[in-house]
Order: sequence, then C-alpha cells, then structure tokens
Amino acid sequence: MIDLADVSYAYPDTDHYVLSHVNLKVEPGTVTGIVGASGSGKTTLAKIISGFIPHVDGGELSGSVVVDGATIADVTLSEAVSHVGLVIQSPFNQISGAKFTVREELAFGLENLGVAREEMAERVTAVAELLGITGLLERSPYALSGGQQQLVAIASMIIMNTPVLVMDEPTSQLDPGGTRMVFDVMSSLRDAGITLVVFEHKLELLREHADIVHVLAESQLIASGPSRAMLADPRLEKWGIGSTRFTAAAAAARDRKLLSKDAELPVSLTDAVPEFRAFAAKKGA
Ligand SMILES: Nc1ncnc2c1ncn2[C@@H]1O[C@H](COP(=O)(O)OP(=O)(O)O)[C@@H](O)[C@H]1O
Ligand SMILES: [Mg+2]
Repeated sequence: MIDLADVSYAYPDTDHYVLSHVNLKVEPGTVTGIVGASGSGKTTLAKIISGFIPHVDGGELSGSVVVDGATIADVTLSEAVSHVGLVIQSPFNQISGAKFTVREELAFGLENLGVAREEMAERVTAVAELLGITGLLERSPYALSGGQQQLVAIASMIIMNTPVLVMDEPTSQLDPGGTRMVFDVMSSLRDAGITLVVFEHKLELLREHADIVHVLAESQLIASGPSRAMLADPRLEKWGIGSTRFTAAAAAARDRKLLSKDAELPVSLTDAVPEFRAFAAKKGA
C-alpha cells in the first residue's frame, strides 16, 4: 500500500540530508507505528508519504514514493490527497475556520469536489458513525475538546475516502482522555480497511495499537519489528526514544535474575501482568 524505496531528502537551502536511503513497505489494512527522537525526521517523513514534500515544501527528494498505486512526486498535490491524508499535531490548525458546525466542516472538502448534496449527507453520517462523533455534528468545531477536535480532523480526511492515513504525533497536544479517544479510533479505522501510519512517542499505546513498529534514527528507518519486540528493544535508549516503565522494571528484574534471561520484556501493563504473575507464583512456591 505504501512503498518507499531509497528515499533521501534535504530541505531547500540546506546541504544536509534529513533522511537518507529510507526504505519502507506498508501492507494494506495495517497500523504501522514509527518512533523517533525529537528532530529525527518524523514530520519530514510524514510529509513525504503524504505528498507535502515535494509539492509544498520543495527541497531535494530522491528515490521513489508510491502510495496506493500513485507515484507521489508525479501526481499533483490534489491527486495525492485523494490517496493519502495527513493529520497534523495540532487539531486546532486543521479546522477550516469557514464553517459553523461539525457537520458543515466534514462536508467542506466534499463541497470543494462538487459532490452531490445527498451523497455528501450520507458520507457525513457514515464517517461520524465510524468515529463515534454523531453527537457532535451540530456543535461548533471550536466548542470541542482537543481530543474531539482531533477526531473531527481525522473524520474530515476519512470522508475524502483516502485509503491511507498518516498521523504525525496526533495526540501530542491532547490530555489522556483525548489521547485515548484518538487511539481507540485507530482500531475502528483498521477494521474499516484503512491503512494507518502513526508517528508517536506514547510507547504503551503504540504497543497496543500498532501491528509493526519502525524506528527512525540516524537519518534512516534503522530497525523494525512486531510492536512488543521492537518497543522493548534496549537499543531504543541509544536512539533517544527511551522505554516504558514496564520494560525498565522487567529489565531490572532480569538483571537481578528475578526474571528468566529469556523472558520477553513487556511494554504495556497488559504485557506485564502475566510476567509478574508468573514471577509471584514462582516466588510463592
Ligand atoms: N523547513 C525546514 N528547513 C530546514 N530544516 C528543517 C525544516 N524542517 C525541519 N528541518 C530539520 O529537519 C530535521 C528533522 O525535523 P522533523 O522532521 O521536524 O523532526 P521530528 O518531527 O522528528 O521532530 C531537524 O533537524 C529539523 O531542524
Ligand atoms: Mg515532528
């Protein structure tokens, strides 16, 4: 669904490559997580997959970027956005400012495409149901919590029928409730067959929601693997990403020989419970 081959990129008027020789393949209908330290190039990569680079930011891009069958550099930005949507960090900045209700906000992009009224209404209803925001349709987009605004921003991409959605730290400006809302919606989107690429540093939530995780470091996608194995990998420290408290606690227990050296390290609470239960049972015996 996404195929990046040997992609390198330098911003305009700079002489160093922010990304160099990046390769990425994403299967349709999966959730891919990408983690990386601040400044590692997450936003840059998100813009490359979604066509804002090179169509808006310019710069020097080489290699090939194919998303949903379209070679992104060869199509116009307006065609690119029919294949892939980008959700940015700040939900507030994604609201058009032109509409009074969420219903109108969602219809906005379709209006611009000249979609018939009846179809527009049907698509608004369907996408609102999918994201669980039917109750917000008559509200002002400005009278919502950050989490609700981010759901509206996601809905306004999904309604364009983009099969691929890229999210660049979509929860970084949200409280825990809003963060949970956005992550919960990822499962519904996957069930609806949408391919998701999520740039995030909330490792526990990524562990629960991503099928596969890639690490962005040293200008490359340097490692990848199933979410639990990748997010518990000790090299994440060196790459400036860190680890969850569950991974840290289990690693410390392993160092003290309290857990078997072959034990798979947990990332989330859900992973950790059986490990620590097994330990407690052994200790009890
Ligand atoms: N418009 C730009 N022009 C020049 N350099 C940029 C621009 N935007 C980002 N950079 C640089 O590219 C690198 C990666 O930035 P970014 O993709 O924003 O990383 P992240 O999202 O992981 O924090 C940083 O060194 C940043 O300073
Ligand atoms: Mg960023």
